[in-house]
Amino acid sequence: MHDILPEDSPYWEKVRQEVFEMAKFYDFGYVETPVLEFLGVFEKSLGVASEVVEKEIYCVKTKGGDEFVLRPEGTAPIMRAYLEHGWESIPQPVKAFYLGQMFRHESPQAGRYRQFHQFGFEVIGSEDPVSDAELILIAMNLLKDMGIKNLICEINSLGDKTCRIKYKQALKDYFRNHIKKMCSNCQRRFKANPLRILDCKEEKCKEIILKAPQILDFICDDCRSHFKKLIEFLDELEVPYLLNPYLVRGLDYYTKTVFEIYNEEKRSSQSALAGGGRYDGLGEILGGKNIPAVGFACGIERVIYEMKESKARVPQKPMPKIFLVQLGDLGKKKSLKLMEEFRKHNIFVSESLSKHSIKSQMKSADKEGVKLTLILGQKEALDNEIIIRDMTSGVQETIPIPKLINEIKKRLKA
Ligand code: HAM
Repeated sequence: MHDILPEDSPYWEKVRQEVFEMAKFYDFGYVETPVLEFLGVFEKSLGVASEVVEKEIYCVKTKGGDEFVLRPEGTAPIMRAYLEHGWESIPQPVKAFYLGQMFRHESPQAGRYRQFHQFGFEVIGSEDPVSDAELILIAMNLLKDMGIKNLICEINSLGDKTCRIKYKQALKDYFRNHIKKMCSNCQRRFKANPLRILDCKEEKCKEIILKAPQILDFICDDCRSHFKKLIEFLDELEVPYLLNPYLVRGLDYYTKTVFEIYNEEKRSSQSALAGGGRYDGLGEILGGKNIPAVGFACGIERVIYEMKESKARVPQKPMPKIFLVQLGDLGKKKSLKLMEEFRKHNIFVSESLSKHSIKSQMKSADKEGVKLTLILGQKEALDNEIIIRDMTSGVQETIPIPKLINEIKKRLKA
């Protein structure tokens, strides 16, 4: 877990700004679910054998004996909210986006935290592949607008519940002859869910995985046609993509489309910047009816790392053109009030209100390279006046405080 410090705030600001603008354009509504949920929300949906539920969930027990978990992801809570608030009865699809902390007890390493942030976009109530394409387009364009280059989207189809049964059996038959040579994780996955073996990054396992049966040979006509239409949309949109027949993703709720977005140059060495897919069965798993849905989420810490690597342009702190120097108790009191006046008129002024000596305040004004310095001493405060010093010419003038805002506007314009 880590602190987010002021030096990174321009990056966070840029990410938030881009996410909210994109959401507004495509008409997604902001949803914020609690950080705590019941374990059942994730256990049933992500799968008891998924890495996340098996090893990474943080459990919280209250003194009264209630048990909760810190949410590891945002999709299941959004579907929980959809069912809880009766969104089935509002016009479909429901388009929702979110941004917030997620918690997974993973082994900390570069780009992998135990508390991290995601933003995500979900379209609930649409089975049309155009929604899958719209979300991939949004994810790719958001990352591009944040200043990240060389993006590539890996996609695959996992079929539906029925096609997957046949595929899982074919995988079992294939891996049965190789499993003794594979890592202990794969041996465990072989029993729990052979699909997960395809996720393994161990070299010795990867060689075996490369010859495993491919899901696209097992999916039904309906799933095949959905996938074909999605690819046609991506071609039309000129989204750079790569078909990866072994992309399975780590969560059980996926059906049909799955995708992950990478920086192409670092694809082999780095984890995905964003991941998503279709989860048509999740509504039913959580106690609703069959609700088609698709979405993606993006890890903000990973995005900010990439933004820094790509030297992305981020909002800069505005440079103040004015510095306010104050002296004595009365000067200080009036200064604070004056600062509020500047704020109302949108005039950006720098100050050192906690300092006492005029010398050190003038030094700060010099360092900031301001055009004007305002000096409000005890005498000026009593007379309701202020000194304006032009920092280039060194000329000073005393003017009544009620005329200050207009005078400053005039001088800054000049
Ligand atoms: P996910 O692939 O588990 O999918 O996470 C999405 C993104 O969150 C990852 O691509 C990565 O950028 C980031 N991420 C995941 N774990 C960590 C971590 N420990 N530290 C830093 N970043 C991390 C989901 O969460 C799904 N809910 C996505 C989705 C939305 N599917 C459909 N709709």
